[in-house]
Amino acid sequence: MMKLMTRYSLCVSLLIFIPTLTHSANSSTNYLTTQQLWFSQTLDHYSPYSQDRSQFQQRYYEFLDFFRSPDGPIFMVICGEYTCKGIKNDYIAVLAKKFGAAVVSLEHRYYGKSSPFKQLTTQNLRYLSSKQALFDLAVFRQSYQAKCTSSQISESLNAKLNRTKEENPWFVFGVSYPGALSAWFRLKFPHLTCGSLASSAVVLAVYNFTEFDQQVGESAGPECKAALQETTKLIDQKLVTNGKALKASFDATDLRIDGDFLYFLADAAATAVIDMISAVSFLQFQYGNPDKVCKPLVEAKKAGDDLVDAYAKYVKEYYLGDYGASVQSYNQNYLKNTTASEDSSDRLWWFQVCTEVAYFQVAPSNDSVRSSKVDTRQSPFLHCTIWTSAKMYLEKASFLMLIQLIYTMEAPKLLVRNFPCLNVSFGSKIVFTNGSQDPWRHASKQASSPDMPSYTITCSNCGHGTDMRGCPQSPFNIEGNEKNCTSPDAVHKVRQKIVEHIDLWLSECQDTSRSCI
Ligand SMILES: *[C@@H]1O[C@H](CO)[C@@H](O)[C@H](O)[C@H]1NC(C)=O
Ligand SMILES: *[C@@H]1O[C@H](CO)[C@@H](O)[C@H](O)[C@H]1NC(C)=O
Ligand SMILES: *[C@@H]1O[C@H](CO)[C@@H](O)[C@H](O)[C@H]1NC(C)=O
Ligand SMILES: *[C@@H]1O[C@H](CO)[C@@H](O)[C@H](O)[C@H]1NC(C)=O
Ligand SMILES: *[C@@H]1O[C@H](CO)[C@@H](O)[C@H](O)[C@H]1NC(C)=O
Ligand SMILES: *[C@@H]1O[C@H](CO)[C@@H](O)[C@H](O)[C@H]1NC(C)=O
Ligand SMILES: *[C@@H]1O[C@H](CO)[C@@H](O)[C@H](O)[C@H]1NC(C)=O
Ligand SMILES: *[C@@H]1O[C@H](CO)[C@@H](O)[C@H](O)[C@H]1NC(C)=O
Repeated sequence: MMKLMTRYSLCVSLLIFIPTLTHSANSSTNYLTTQQLWFSQTLDHYSPYSQDRSQFQQRYYEFLDFFRSPDGPIFMVICGEYTCKGIKNDYIAVLAKKFGAAVVSLEHRYYGKSSPFKQLTTQNLRYLSSKQALFDLAVFRQSYQAKCTSSQISESLNAKLNRTKEENPWFVFGVSYPGALSAWFRLKFPHLTCGSLASSAVVLAVYNFTEFDQQVGESAGPECKAALQETTKLIDQKLVTNGKALKASFDATDLRIDGDFLYFLADAAATAVIDMISAVSFLQFQYGNPDKVCKPLVEAKKAGDDLVDAYAKYVKEYYLGDYGASVQSYNQNYLKNTTASEDSSDRLWWFQVCTEVAYFQVAPSNDSVRSSKVDTRQSPFLHCTIWTSAKMYLEKASFLMLIQLIYTMEAPKLLVRNFPCLNVSFGSKIVFTNGSQDPWRHASKQASSPDMPSYTITCSNCGHGTDMRGCPQSPFNIEGNEKNCTSPDAVHKVRQKIVEHIDLWLSECQDTSRSCI
């Protein structure tokens, strides 16, 4: 699967999550805090008193420098399918300052240092799901706000402030998969947050996610798209005639399974396109090498040079080099490694992909950029056979579609009755945002509605999570500086809207939340 989006920023979610990065972030400026705190979490929220050991240690962070004590809001920033190293110094810092908010952030269960098990066998992964993760956030939120210090948390906010009754208004934030969690959290626990920001939130668990590749082509533009497609064709041919040499030229001999290799190449192009988009500012500010993949490919094509060679050079120098992607993470055998470590994110995320969210970035039937061999029967699908037989997995497809229904934002309002304290309509006060060039935006909420407004930030380097992180996203921009976006105004306008919604929803929340909890 194409990872969602981390680079430099391990804390940027997803969907390009790169487990091994060659660039180390400057932690003193890229994070508001990296000081880890621990929370004793329920292992199975659906059966809290099971035979199993019932608790595990979950890591969290807290940043109080901007907090307007004692009744300022609390911003909960959701971490996702990656090691959560701290609270990023992105646009959340600007918002926290503006609203006098405390910022807290909980690492997602199983990832980073928050694994309940040392061995990540399939059996031990049974408590890994977005549903459990949502309850983690709810339990954490309640304990952090606890009326008195509980055994679960080293120090609740109220204990710190020496008070017994107060409830602060909460607001939840997330980008990418955490963006989806942010929306789902508000849906499931509307009494626990005044509202949510769901940035580039992949709330639609699309099974055959062909729109992803289509968006890559669109974002690349016609000339580059044609060059990429020609390269793909040549690679497909070479793979048949001399696969070994071809893989060697990409430093990817380890990927014995052709499907793995093709998926790796597809990701390399997609990432490039996302980054190629940022190249405009790179060039403008002479920051780096513009048009990282398009320029060499288009030039090679014009000069009649070997496109596969040009592409291999890009993949090795940029995708594996500067960007820090690892060939191993595409290797099914590597994904079978059950030892928990900070490198386990790939195995863990694939488990979630295979069991709940899918988003298989398969080739569309016509005009694809990636190889048409990247289909549900090939690499993404095969990865899932790590967990179950191929036959069983195909049967599961219908299960995935059911999940998709449940998770679709327009889903029936089922859960409401579980929360007697609830006095807001189901699915409200969630603001959705998308970047216009982001292939993931097709898995986001598709339409704006009065209770759940949505905005697309349109500019030529506006990608995944641009509202929170600015653009380009590498190198990391402190406070998500919008100045580096090709249309700072587009980003600015959407940010204004976000601020207005937070302001309004916090004010509407203050009175009711206290009596409720
Ligand atoms: C990180 O940033 C701080 C503050 O700007 C600076 O003093 C420090 O040298 C930087 N560290 C590295 C490793 O770049
Ligand atoms: C907390 O407040 C109580 C009651 O006002 C007071 O007796 C106590 O000393 C305070 N404790 C701390 C640690 O400030
Ligand atoms: C996905 O596409 C494949 C063909 O490429 C098709 O066989 C399958 O039914 C589709 N699955 C879903 C859930 O749409
Ligand atoms: C599995 O991962 C662990 C932790 O990263 C590593 O030490 C070990 O060598 C790996 N095992 C294999 C067979 O690759
Ligand atoms: C396939 O894509 C090409 C290029 O975008 C387009 O011209 C053609 O009409 C498409 N064919 C079908 C059957 O959709
Ligand atoms: C919800 O709150 C509003 C405003 O406080 C109130 O008018 C309404 O009766 C409440 N609804 C329920 C079902 O309690
Ligand atoms: C996200 O992008 C999709 C696809 O372009 C679009 O239909 C949808 O309205 C966008 N959603 C938001 C919240 O911008
Ligand atoms: C962002 O813009 C500033 C000038 O406003 C420039 O100094 C900086 O290098 C740019 N950063 C990136 C990553 O392009």
